[in-house]
Amino acid sequence: MAKTFSKPTSILFMLFTIFFFSTYVMADEAPVFSKNLPPSSLGLKQQKLSHLHFYFHDIVSGPKPTAIRVAQAATTNTSPTGFGAMAVIDDPLTLLPENTSKVVGQAQGIYTLVSQSEAALLMVMNFAFTEGQYNGSTLSVLGRNTVFSTVREMPIVGGSGVFRFAQTPVFSRNLSPSSLGLKREKLSHLHFYFHDILSGPKPSAVRVAQAAMTNTSSTSFGAVSVIDDALTMLPDNSSKVVGRAQGIYASASQSEFGLLMVLNFAFIEGEYNGSTLSVLGRNTILSTVRELPIVGGSGVFRFARGYAHVKTYTFDTKTGDAVVEYNVYAFHY
Ligand SMILES: *[C@@H]1O[C@H](CO)[C@@H](O)[C@H](O)[C@H]1NC(C)=O
Ligand SMILES: *[C@@H]1O[C@H](CO)[C@@H](O)[C@H](O)[C@H]1NC(C)=O
Ligand SMILES: *[C@@H]1O[C@H](CO)[C@@H](O)[C@H](O)[C@H]1NC(C)=O
Ligand SMILES: *[C@@H]1O[C@H](CO)[C@@H](O)[C@H](O)[C@H]1NC(C)=O
Ligand SMILES: *[C@@H]1O[C@H](CO)[C@@H](O)[C@H](O)[C@H]1NC(C)=O
Repeated sequence: MAKTFSKPTSILFMLFTIFFFSTYVMADEAPVFSKNLPPSSLGLKQQKLSHLHFYFHDIVSGPKPTAIRVAQAATTNTSPTGFGAMAVIDDPLTLLPENTSKVVGQAQGIYTLVSQSEAALLMVMNFAFTEGQYNGSTLSVLGRNTVFSTVREMPIVGGSGVFRFAQTPVFSRNLSPSSLGLKREKLSHLHFYFHDILSGPKPSAVRVAQAAMTNTSSTSFGAVSVIDDALTMLPDNSSKVVGRAQGIYASASQSEFGLLMVLNFAFIEGEYNGSTLSVLGRNTILSTVRELPIVGGSGVFRFARGYAHVKTYTFDTKTGDAVVEYNVYAFHY
C-alpha cells in the first residue's frame, strides 16, 4: 500500500492532516484570541447619526452632592485654577433645565482641573442612559471643558448598546456627512516636544494620589499625577509653544514603568488654535518608541482617530524631568 502513495500525495496528505488538526485545535481546543469577522456577524447594519439633547446637573453643594473631590496635589489649594483637583461624579441628565424634570440618564466619571492658567477640565466619563430605546446604553466621553467658555466641544470616543462603535467616523451612503458640515477626511501629521517638569518652583506635573504601597513599589504602582505640560515646536523649552498636554497619568504596572495616559492636547497654534486631540493609551516610558492611540478630537479635529509615536528626547534621572518627542498621525474631517 505504502508504495502506491506517491511522494507528493503523502506530503499533501500530511499537509491536509496538519491543517485539519490545527483547524480542529483552533476551533475547539485553544481559546482563539483574534480573528477577522465581517460586520454582519455582529448584526451591524447601516450607521446612524443621532442627536441627543439634555441638561447635566453638577451639584457640589448640599447634603447630597453629585460631584465629590477625591484627590488633589499639595499645591492645589494655593493654585488660582485649582490645578490638580480631581472629582468623581454621578450627575443626573434631565430633559429640561429644572432638576425636577425627567431624568434620562447619569453622567458618571471623573473630572480634573488640568490647567495652571484657566478653568479647564479633563472630563472622562460615560453617559449611562435610562430612557426608552437608550435604556442601558452608554456613550463614552474624553474631552476638555473650559467651563467659562460660552460653548465647548467634547469628543464622543465610544459607546455601548445602541451606541456601539459610536466614534467610528465611517459614514454610510444613506447619511449625509455634509449635514454636519463634514467634508473629505484628512490625514494630519503633527510634530512637537512635550515637557514634563516635576522639579522646581512651578512643576507642570503634580502628584495628586497614590496608594499606601506606592513608595515601596519599584515601579511607583498607584501614583496618579495631573499634568499641564507645554508642547513646543523644538526640544528647547524656550521655543514656540504650540499647545499644552492636559490630563492625568497613572503608574499602572507592577513590573515595569507603564503609564495609563488620559489627556487632551489643547493646541493654540495657527489653524489649530482652540482644537483638541484626545489620547487614551499606555506609555512604557523606558521603551525606545511607544505608540499611543488618538481616540477623538474637537474643532478642526472632529471625529479624529490615529496614533502618536512617542520617543524620549531627554530624561533627567535625578529630577524626573523629561522632554519627549511626539509625532502624531490623525485622520479627521
Ligand atoms: C433642585 O434644586 C433646588 C434649588 O437648587 C434644590 O433645593 C432641590 O433640593 C433640588 N432637587 C433635587 C431633586 O435635586
Ligand atoms: C431600564 O432598564 C432597567 C433594567 O433593565 C429596568 O429596571 C428599568 O425599569 C428600565 N427603565 C426604563 C425607564 O425603561
Ligand atoms: C511617600 O513618600 C513621600 C515623599 O517621598 C511622602 O511625602 C509620603 O508621605 C509617602 N507616602 C506614604 C504613604 O508613605
Ligand atoms: C528651561 O529649562 C531650563 C533648564 O532646565 C530652566 O532653567 C528654565 O527655567 C526653563 N524655562 C522655562 C521657560 O521653562
Ligand atoms: C487663539 O485663540 C484665542 C481665543 O480665541 C486667542 O485669544 C489667541 O490670541 C489665539 N492665539 C493664537 C496664537 O492665535
